[in-house]
Amino acid sequence: MSALVICASKHHGNTRKVADRIGDVLNASVLTPSEVTPDRIDAADVVGFGSGVYWMAFEPDLVRLVRGLTAKPRGTAFVYATSGLPETPLRRYTRDLAGLLTDAGFQVVPEVFHCRGLDTMGPFGLVGGMNKGRPSATDLAAADAFARRLLAQEG
Ligand SMILES: Cc1cc2nc3c(=O)[nH]c(=O)nc-3n(C[C@H](O)[C@H](O)[C@H](O)COP(=O)(O)O)c2cc1C
Repeated sequence: MSALVICASKHHGNTRKVADRIGDVLNASVLTPSEVTPDRIDAADVVGFGSGVYWMAFEPDLVRLVRGLTAKPRGTAFVYATSGLPETPLRRYTRDLAGLLTDAGFQVVPEVFHCRGLDTMGPFGLVGGMNKGRPSATDLAAADAFARRLLAQEG
């Protein structure tokens, strides 16, 4: 199985830590939306799409990349994210990204990997930020376990 992890991580590199751990388990390259090419995406059996959450949305370059994919039968995709707060029912950004990936032709894994990340945006920055030390070793162990479940499913 060949895997690829696409990651946009612009605040503190929080999501990149998660992507690197998942990439290690899947033996996959981790590329940014600007580094990845349609050929690399087409060549992988499993592709991960993730970023930090900014203004209740995935990073715009990542969303543009997914929206720009030609719709055709594709392999497996998974979604992962880090954020300051849990996802709210008002704005289901992980579900929306999964929907775009389904539209592009991927079989999207129902399980999403999502953990908190250090957030120094706005007033939180004045007190050193929210979620200090995250993603933590425990978060990265959970990302590792998530990737191992993927491996078990995809062979
Ligand atoms: C401009 C900006 C907007 C953000 N908006 C949200 C948000 O709407 N909801 C949320 O839970 N976290 C929000 N955050 C916090 C980030 O999602 C969190 O810190 C994440 O771990 C950043 O990942 P990164 O270091 O990979 O960029 C925001 C952070 C920034 C810098």
